[in-house]
Amino acid sequence: MPPLRHLLAFLLIATALAGCSEQRVEPPAPKGGDFVLRSAGGPLDTKTLRGKVLLIYFGYTHCPDVCPASLAAGAQTLNTLTTEERAKVRLIMVSVDPERDTPERLKEYAAYFHPEMVGVTGTPEEIAAVAKSFGAGYLRQPARPDGSYAVDHTTRTYVMAPDGKLAVALELNAPAEKYLETVRGLLR
Ligand code: NI
Repeated sequence: MPPLRHLLAFLLIATALAGCSEQRVEPPAPKGGDFVLRSAGGPLDTKTLRGKVLLIYFGYTHCPDVCPASLAAGAQTLNTLTTEERAKVRLIMVSVDPERDTPERLKEYAAYFHPEMVGVTGTPEEIAAVAKSFGAGYLRQPARPDGSYAVDHTTRTYVMAPDGKLAVALELNAPAEKYLETVRGLLR
């Protein structure tokens, strides 16, 4: 074989191997998991909510548009459920802005969307660990001249099944029927 063909053969093999190893090191899909964070009413431990469907959203109260839209979708789902069904569902917002979102501020914010919605926060490390387990991401942006700042974040609503397992992540623009179908499907 002329040297050039050797090189080509080598490159082809190297590419194939790279493809293989890439697949092998791909991290497993996030599984979610129980967490304990702080609400205005005391610690919220998802283990105590076994048997309920949890709609979990990572956001922050200063968010100008995306959070309100997502949380309104969650609240609408609660409103569409029967009273009996609603007793088995919780809407939880995990703050990705612990510096500004105190438990009290989260309580006020949550009440604006639904009386049964709960906002929780924790230390930056605690929140990072919870977000990581769900595969949620967020990134604080540099402060503006007036000191305010935005926090970019994942826009999915994570649905935890009554057995505590992450069932599905609903996309931001999923239709209301999709939310309802998902929750009712897990309550059966
Ligand atoms: Ni937001």
